[in-house]
Amino acid sequence: MKVLFLLITVGHSLSDTFGFSVSRLDSPEQCQNRITHFKGYYVLGGEPAAIQCPTFSYLQMQYSDLSESSQDLVWSRNYSENFNVGEESRIQAKEDLLWFFPTKKEDTGTYSCILRNSSFCLEVTVHFNVMALTEVTLADIAYGQITVEQHSFQMNCPDMGAFTRTHTDVNLRWLKDGNLLSNDGKKYEVLDGSTHIHIKDVNKEDEGYYTCEYTFTHDNKEYSVSRIISLQVIAQEKRDHPIIVQPSHKTIAASIGSKLTIPCKVFTGFGGSNLIVWWLANGTYINEIFEDGRVTEGSFQETKESDGIYIEVTLFFENVSEEDFSTDFKCIASNDYGTEVLPTQIRQAASPFSWYLAAVPAILICLIVAIISICKYRKSSDKKQYSLAKY
Ligand SMILES: *[C@@H]1O[C@H](CO)[C@@H](O)[C@H](O)[C@H]1NC(C)=O
Ligand SMILES: *[C@@H]1O[C@H](CO)[C@@H](O)[C@H](O)[C@H]1NC(C)=O
Ligand SMILES: *[C@@H]1O[C@H](CO)[C@@H](O)[C@H](O)[C@H]1NC(C)=O
Ligand SMILES: *[C@@H]1O[C@H](CO)[C@@H](O)[C@H](O)[C@H]1NC(C)=O
Repeated sequence: MKVLFLLITVGHSLSDTFGFSVSRLDSPEQCQNRITHFKGYYVLGGEPAAIQCPTFSYLQMQYSDLSESSQDLVWSRNYSENFNVGEESRIQAKEDLLWFFPTKKEDTGTYSCILRNSSFCLEVTVHFNVMALTEVTLADIAYGQITVEQHSFQMNCPDMGAFTRTHTDVNLRWLKDGNLLSNDGKKYEVLDGSTHIHIKDVNKEDEGYYTCEYTFTHDNKEYSVSRIISLQVIAQEKRDHPIIVQPSHKTIAASIGSKLTIPCKVFTGFGGSNLIVWWLANGTYINEIFEDGRVTEGSFQETKESDGIYIEVTLFFENVSEEDFSTDFKCIASNDYGTEVLPTQIRQAASPFSWYLAAVPAILICLIVAIISICKYRKSSDKKQYSLAKY
């Protein structure tokens, strides 16, 4: 009897120590559908930022549809729902946005936006990286944009949607390589209230790092948010080569068991023809290496954007597995004028689930075995106790 009691006590205190994660193992709270969103956030520490809940786009829903359905939206960080979100706090959830006023280094982590109702649950996870300019290179955080020589170019200040949605007075400051650009209408032109700058007669010297900056007031405090753009100027004779613009960050974090999509987005050049785009894993075609269909390649999608035509071919992971972290994935784009190759690596996102799932039963079993051995040794003469311990 004593042994049983001991086991129960040990089991109990263990689950206290691991508290919440143990109770989540069999709790209905964990979503049946989990997806890792391919697009991570790379933001500068000290600036405000907003993560947009990606779950809506997977369900082809909008935030405004929520009121009609009985679904709940919940944010979790590093797979724990207990983090400090609220009106008063630095991190605030408003509609489908999670705001940081401002970001801090320790906000780096995994954020999941969970939509659930009584019968359905979808959790989409994004990686949010807060970085200091002193610890990364500009190339790591810059958004790439492309144009061709001898044209004019409309440069866009990217990922500003959360700010332009909530502010009407968006006036930006533009800098190139740290120097303020003069809005004199000769070389550069900025229209009030727009997130674009017009650059005339582009030449090779226009390449470099541009910064767009937006300053605004929130709760009587002044904040500044900036984006860094790396402009690539294509020589006239190379105007028809394909250029892979995405995936832009060379490693992508995903957790085992989740779904993952990685789009390979290719700028077709200005009139280049016969473009083909495909993926390889360890140098082999996707349908050959993943015969079970766990990883598949999507169809060819053509999109027209303000600066030209893009082709997208997406790699779909039905269920991310361990072997993906040691596989070399490559996107290849080729047309009549040239070929470009972009390697991509998937790394494991720290997920407490896989850790606890494996560790808690193992620790429990070790303890049980240890206790049984001790009891057996001490009370081997007690037949009743022995049979209990055997159980
Ligand atoms: C989330 O997990 C990552 C990786 O384990 C860690 O570096 C980060 O500090 C964690 N973030 C928070 C807010 O707990
Ligand atoms: C729950 O949400 C799903 C997906 O949006 C929807 O199809 C379903 O009708 C909802 N169920 C209830 C009971 O509201
Ligand atoms: C993912 O793969 C693992 C191991 O191959 C399997 O146990 C699990 O059931 C799979 N999950 C889904 C959602 O297919
Ligand atoms: C690719 O090669 C690596 C190392 O050689 C191996 O660990 C991995 O499992 C391979 N991937 C696939 C999908 O076969």
